[in-house]
Amino acid sequence: MNDLPEIPTARREYTPPRPTKPPSYAGRQRLVVLGALLLGVGVGGLWFLVFQGNARTPAATAAAPSTTVAEVPSLDAPSADPGLLSHHPYAVAPQSELTAISRSPEKTVYLRDSAARQYTRMAAAARRDGVVLVPISGFRDLKYQENLFNRNVVRYGGVEEARKISAPPGYSEHHTGYALDLGDGKAPNTTLQASFERTAAFRWLKANAKRYSFEISFDRGNPQAVSYEPWHWRFIGDKGSLETFYGNSFTNEQPSDTP
Ligand code: DAL
Ligand code: ZN
Repeated sequence: MNDLPEIPTARREYTPPRPTKPPSYAGRQRLVVLGALLLGVGVGGLWFLVFQGNARTPAATAAAPSTTVAEVPSLDAPSADPGLLSHHPYAVAPQSELTAISRSPEKTVYLRDSAARQYTRMAAAARRDGVVLVPISGFRDLKYQENLFNRNVVRYGGVEEARKISAPPGYSEHHTGYALDLGDGKAPNTTLQASFERTAAFRWLKANAKRYSFEISFDRGNPQAVSYEPWHWRFIGDKGSLETFYGNSFTNEQPSDTP
């Protein structure tokens, strides 16, 4: 504190005149008053600097361009991606949140944990009713979907036809880990065919899937104009899945007053 680094230079350079002889009583009084004045000015200067510094901080922060805030999308903000070829954008589920729902030497099918739990319960209930649900495809990464889409572009002669059969990479419900394609273990020739709708598995799903929070994604006449896919079901039984497929209309809904 001795050299008062916070005090402006002009004040620090002030040096009181050195008396040439011992001061008289009146002189000593003057010195005391002068000292008190200098002390007051010093303390006042310090207070001014500190107060000004504190007072300036919030104003300066408010005035500065808030790039961080502007760049981080709010939870309520809709996705900026308007979609592609009438398919919606979907984030790829993290591997740590995936659970296997079926394993075979050829393929292991994964769903997101919450969907996997409910699917397992649903498949067990179906089995009790004599229906064998077979997972054909669950979670897909971007590379898998890219290969699938490109194959369909070649097979069906262009993007406009391929988009009705499969989504471009980044736009498939399968990325979310909430969607899966199901077959009937007792009618394997209907796998991924429209004829799947005439199987016992499909009839059972139509009657019971909602009890396990699964719904069909691409029904006849769906707004995305994707081909009818009676085998493709998605989970809508928790906050994550509802936000994924229904946006924020769910979370923004006000609870009703009635019990
Ligand atoms: N078959 C659906 C549209 C998909 O590829 O996600
Ligand atoms: Zn599918």
